[in-house]
Amino acid sequence: MNLIAELESLVEKLKQNLVQAVSLSDLEELRVSFMGRKGQLAGLMSQLKDLAPEERPAFGQKANEIKNALTDMLDRRIEELKAKKEAESLAAFDPSLPGRMPWQGSLHPITMVMEEICAVLEHLGYDVASGPEVETDFYCFEALNFPHDHPARDMQDTLYVSDGIVMRTHTSPMQVRSMLGSKKPPVAVIAPGKVYRRDSDLTHTPMFHQIEGLLVGKNITFTDLRGTLAYLTRCLFGQQTKVRFRPSFFPFTEPSAEVDVSCIMCNGQGHIKGEPCRVCKTTGWLEILGCGMIDPNVFKHVGFDSECTGFAFGMGVERITMLKYGIGDLRMFFENDLRFLQQFV
Ligand code: DAH
Repeated sequence: MNLIAELESLVEKLKQNLVQAVSLSDLEELRVSFMGRKGQLAGLMSQLKDLAPEERPAFGQKANEIKNALTDMLDRRIEELKAKKEAESLAAFDPSLPGRMPWQGSLHPITMVMEEICAVLEHLGYDVASGPEVETDFYCFEALNFPHDHPARDMQDTLYVSDGIVMRTHTSPMQVRSMLGSKKPPVAVIAPGKVYRRDSDLTHTPMFHQIEGLLVGKNITFTDLRGTLAYLTRCLFGQQTKVRFRPSFFPFTEPSAEVDVSCIMCNGQGHIKGEPCRVCKTTGWLEILGCGMIDPNVFKHVGFDSECTGFAFGMGVERITMLKYGIGDLRMFFENDLRFLQQFV
């Protein structure tokens, strides 16, 4: 067979092979075999040099034609196979299937309750402030009237970052920052945020959330404090919730009080069906906040005159959230179990 006839026979050969090619990888194999660098077409082309010079142009032209023909055949078959595949996958697809709901996140219950508390207090006219979680000893203790060697500093197990630098153990440093920032009364600020203590058991986690409140002005009295907190607790828990103020001590307030609300796990009974309530430890009460009238020593530290009076309060958000939703275990807030979190959507 002469070379031209051999070139032409490639077309017929490829045609037969294409009938058996059922996949794109079969086609790729054929492409390599016919048109690759060491393929059949290249093999014939390499014999060009053996032809007489006058035969070469005709051979070259034929080789080009064949090359184009082969390329067309392969391309067409590729298109056919692609179309077939698509038709098959369309046939396997059931357009009547219901769609998948897009994944939607939601606020963490702690965030929800923080926002709720802030909304009530903002409505009363308080501004919202935020400050650093890594604090200096000055803001966290000193300016709040914790004397250097006073046992009051041991009341909170402090995480020290370095000498004189602490993870804030409470949001009360924001009292000092707000007063220093505003320079003179009146000041009405709330400060929500994270606080840290060396503590970990059923009712304590190393990080938790507090909201601090501060009102400073002229003639602010303990009655104003009681009224404000009574209003806040009624907004949060409803009219039926019992509230009590117990005398207490904090270095930065005088007088000081702790506020308890009746335990909603056991309705203030201390027991549930004869079993001791593990949330309030049978007392029927849960402490939700500390408060009091600003100690004059704190005013001195921030340079406020002795005429002004004010109150402060600080509350634990986890505790309040547990009360609101009847959650028995504080640790649930930190485990990120979707079965728990999805109940608050
Ligand atoms: N900082 C206190 C604590 O973490 C809570 C507290 C008590 C805040 C009395 C206050 C306050 O503003 O007046 O235990």
